[in-house]
Amino acid sequence: MPQRDTGTNAEVTARHAPDELLTVGEMSRRTGVAPSALRFYEDLGLIAAVRSGGNQRRYARHMLRRVSLISVAKRLGIPLSDVQSAFADVPLDTTPSHADWQRASRGWKAQLEERRRGIERLERELTGCIGCGCLSMKACSLLNPDDALGDAGAGPRRLGPAAVGDP
Ligand code: FES
Repeated sequence: MPQRDTGTNAEVTARHAPDELLTVGEMSRRTGVAPSALRFYEDLGLIAAVRSGGNQRRYARHMLRRVSLISVAKRLGIPLSDVQSAFADVPLDTTPSHADWQRASRGWKAQLEERRRGIERLERELTGCIGCGCLSMKACSLLNPDDALGDAGAGPRRLGPAAVGDP
């Protein structure tokens, strides 16, 4: 029968040596991330688990940092694909070194910088559009960046078939 962990955070911390593995429940309690999300992150290769003798997931303690960083990224609206890129060179099977995390944070910082530039660009365009108000599908770079809708063909591109014939 699977062993249930009912300890508090303080008990969990006190009980575990640095190389001891964490159960899904412990990991979930320590990070505030649901077990289902942990499994999802594992499927994406963002974290890794080993299997116990009873075929249950066990996490190395260094996975705590990975899950915490994923949570921070989520709060910042950073897509998991960007987190995957940032984590790509951070080893899963050993405790990452300071240099590993520094390399990852450099890549992440570059992505955040690119996002910031994109938001600033949108902000400038929005300011122009508020003053303009033409809402032109040809000219408005906010409504139709680089006339991308024109590449899809002539006629209305954002209306469903039922709406096209509407008065
Ligand atoms: S509303 Fe005129 S350019 Fe966007």
